[in-house]
Amino acid sequence: MDFDDQINRFGTHSVKWDMMERLYGVPADKGLSMWVADMDFRPPACVQAAVEKMAAHGVYGYYGDDAGYREAIRWWMQTRHGWALDPDHIFTTHGLVNATGLVVDAFTQPGDSVVLMTPVYHAFARTIKAADRVVVECTLALVAGRYEMDFAAWDAQMTGGERMLILCSPHNPGGRVWTADELRGVADFCKRHDLILISDEIHHDLVMPGHKHHAMPLVAPDCADRLVMLTASTKTFNIAGAHIGNVIIADPALRAKFAARIMALGISPNSFGMHMAEAAYSPEGAVWVDALVAYLDGNRRLFDEGVNAIPGLQSMPLEATYLSWVDFTGTGMAPAEFKARVEKAAQICANHGETFGAGGESYLRFNIATPRARVEEAVARLQSAFGDLQ
Ligand SMILES: Cc1ncc(COP(=O)(O)O)c(C=O)c1O
Repeated sequence: MDFDDQINRFGTHSVKWDMMERLYGVPADKGLSMWVADMDFRPPACVQAAVEKMAAHGVYGYYGDDAGYREAIRWWMQTRHGWALDPDHIFTTHGLVNATGLVVDAFTQPGDSVVLMTPVYHAFARTIKAADRVVVECTLALVAGRYEMDFAAWDAQMTGGERMLILCSPHNPGGRVWTADELRGVADFCKRHDLILISDEIHHDLVMPGHKHHAMPLVAPDCADRLVMLTASTKTFNIAGAHIGNVIIADPALRAKFAARIMALGISPNSFGMHMAEAAYSPEGAVWVDALVAYLDGNRRLFDEGVNAIPGLQSMPLEATYLSWVDFTGTGMAPAEFKARVEKAAQICANHGETFGAGGESYLRFNIATPRARVEEAVARLQSAFGDLQ
């Protein structure tokens, strides 16, 4: 559990590090990669042991008998989130972007509209548009420096052509842990406009001290007939390359519809992901996550303090995730200028805010799940790149 270990990820086909120069023009020998959402940490030893056991056996055939995998998920959701789910309600997909594509395919038709609360995780819109559906952007309200929902404005925006809402809970970017009241508001909104509610809770384990995540089925049991839950072990345990995730559906009619699409598209699990996720959702995995969150909390404090000391920059208070959402509005600079300072002067890669949809244009998203020394280095570089504002 040495989160301070600076592991060299170059030459490992890491999208975060090996694509940095090609995508951002930031030189590999000097750059700091703080974009895509994976962490620069090894997963817990129990996950590594599961992979080593597979490698030692050396036969990599089709996976079967997922009872242990389902039980591990049931146990994790019960012990970590107080959510008693039925293991028979779980479908396994190739990650949650895949799951997003599948739910859009299963529950909407070409031409239908899907509601997003923007700015939000960019793959939602990409997937919806690629499936010939229409994205309806309901922009989050910026209230006292953090995002809030604005149901009155969103009610007025609905036209009747909307079929689905995809919620990101906790929220990426912006790091909000939605309150139980806000989540009930989302469920009511979906009822009012007859929308299928997709609740992507992939970041639910990465919640900072003092905040509490609420699983949607617990706060809105009355919306079970329209609710589809998306969860995954991959963000929590840094095993995104395993491409594994879950779609959990309590309603029998929705479940039957989804099962038919899974069958039609021939989706079956990747055995590496199954073994890794089962090992991760364990008491040993839980101890590791607690230590991880404490470490991320330390990184968050350091990053916020350093960045917010630069006049014109403001990071949104991070209640969950390791993705810091920094607003450059106060610099008075156009996006091209603040991006150039971050990428060319500070040689840092961060996600561009506009890719998250309406409301993101003046922001960059920094991934702080990296050894603390790198966070310190990033802060020093940003302070220098914007030194003339001091
Ligand atoms: C909200 C959200 N959903 C899904 C994903 C990606 O999921 P996967 O890697 O399982 O496709 C991310 C990755 O950052 C995310 O933030």
